Amino acid sequence: MNGQRVNAGGAGRTGGSSRQPLLRLENICVKFGFVEALKSVNLDIGRQEVVAIVGDNGAGKSTLIKVVAGFLQPGFGHIYLNGEEVVIPSIRAADRLGIASVFQGQEFCDNLNVAANLFLGKEINLGGVRDDESMNSRARSVMKTLSSAIRVGSPISSLSVGQRQTVAIARTLLNDPKLILLDEPTAALSVMQTAEVLSYIKRLRSEGRTVVMVCHDLPDVFAVSDRIVVIRQGRITGVHRTVETSYEEIIAEIAGVATEHEYEEITEDPKYSSMVRQRKRIDRTMSAALEESQAEDDGYWAGNE
Ligand SMILES: Nc1ncnc2c1ncn2[C@@H]1O[C@H](COP(=O)(O)OP(=O)(O)OP(=O)(O)O)[C@@H](O)[C@H]1O
Ligand SMILES: [Mg+2]
Repeated sequence: MNGQRVNAGGAGRTGGSSRQPLLRLENICVKFGFVEALKSVNLDIGRQEVVAIVGDNGAGKSTLIKVVAGFLQPGFGHIYLNGEEVVIPSIRAADRLGIASVFQGQEFCDNLNVAANLFLGKEINLGGVRDDESMNSRARSVMKTLSSAIRVGSPISSLSVGQRQTVAIARTLLNDPKLILLDEPTAALSVMQTAEVLSYIKRLRSEGRTVVMVCHDLPDVFAVSDRIVVIRQGRITGVHRTVETSYEEIIAEIAGVATEHEYEEITEDPKYSSMVRQRKRIDRTMSAALEESQAEDDGYWAGNE
């Protein structure tokens, strides 16, 4: 099936004016049997922004981005892209609409090189023959976009976990998407690898793309996002501009606590105390590693503060 545009439901929802959000989710509901993974979720995502989705295990974060990625169909609700209602029945359909995604456990063919893995299932053919030259040259240009030093002829098996994540992100760029969805892009990465992936995310934004990322690691969220969306038990409980919120506010929302006393209590809970501790490692290392890309993005920040 195609990624289809359907007749826009409400007044004023025709056309793709830049005043429209890039993506609008309206009343999205997803059920797995009796489990209500998403309960009437409403969310607008703008152009050229990085939005972090945070929440506890099982909160519904992955489900939310799977709905936009075309992995899952909502039981109820509407999705608008540039103001027009769309249905996204598959990943290919999402691809056609300019939506790309990277989920955990990305599969690669270990016996192939980076370029071949980038084009897995999307090989360029010329007169019925695989056009390696075009693929290598396009692969080099995508890697250059990310300013990555990974050589496209390297066997994928020789890459670190962080470099594989880079290749997974690079793969999303082949179709020049406007919206990129990342599920836990920094999970299992070292601090330096994380900093590298975060700098790619910022680069994608400076090119005019929007990134929505699910992330457990609050230092990463605060390092890179423009807005933070908190999901709790299938509902959005908060949407914040990152510069206007605090770790404490986000942790309290994730845990669903409202008073200072309750907050003190949850900081004793091992699950949340590690988040609180993370705040302290905010990261001379991370900011040092990000400094380089920060200089590049200064123009962006100056225009957005
Ligand atoms: N395919 C599925 N079948 C049944 N239940 C599911 C399925 N996928 C998710 N769920 C349930 O839906 C709820 C939301 O899951 P989801 O994976 O979106 O959470 P999450 O916020 O991404 O959690 P995590 O941080 O653990 O990745 C959970 O209760 C989960 O058990
Ligand atoms: Mg998840």
